Amino acid sequence: MKILIINGPNLNMLGLREPDLYGKKDYNALVEYVAECCKNMEVEHEIYQSNHEGEIVEKIQQAYKVFDGIVINAAAYTHTSVAILDALKAVSIPAVEVHLTDISAREPFRHISYTGMYCEMTYKGLGFEGYKKAIEYLCEKYK
Ligand code: DQA
Repeated sequence: MKILIINGPNLNMLGLREPDLYGKKDYNALVEYVAECCKNMEVEHEIYQSNHEGEIVEKIQQAYKVFDGIVINAAAYTHTSVAILDALKAVSIPAVEVHLTDISAREPFRHISYTGMYCEMTYKGLGFEGYKKAIEYLCEKYK
């Protein structure tokens, strides 16, 4: 089982970025956290971050027949990107959406999630733990 974890724009700024909302841990801490979760669950993984919509679309396209599951925090593109939604639909790989914060409790423009229209499950407002839950969800699915 091989999982691709995709992180969208500004998540590379974790630690610096609005720490009251996103916490004080940096992106590297998230990379290590995800690696530890995957190791414990005996899952192969790749973690990818990009600030560019087209690069995320290409990464999803390249996942076809390579990855069994996708965990995606498309960050701001969650609320705008039909292109990312269409890429997920195109490859048809089971996917789970993650948000560090509870997007449904924030500004109204964050209440719409295009990514979520494809994903089987969403974990929001759980911080890093949302990634663990998403990986667990995919592991359960393939059990
Ligand atoms: C986010 C929520 C988005 O609304 C925001 O644009 C982000 C991060 C989250 O993880 O809580 O960049 O996806």
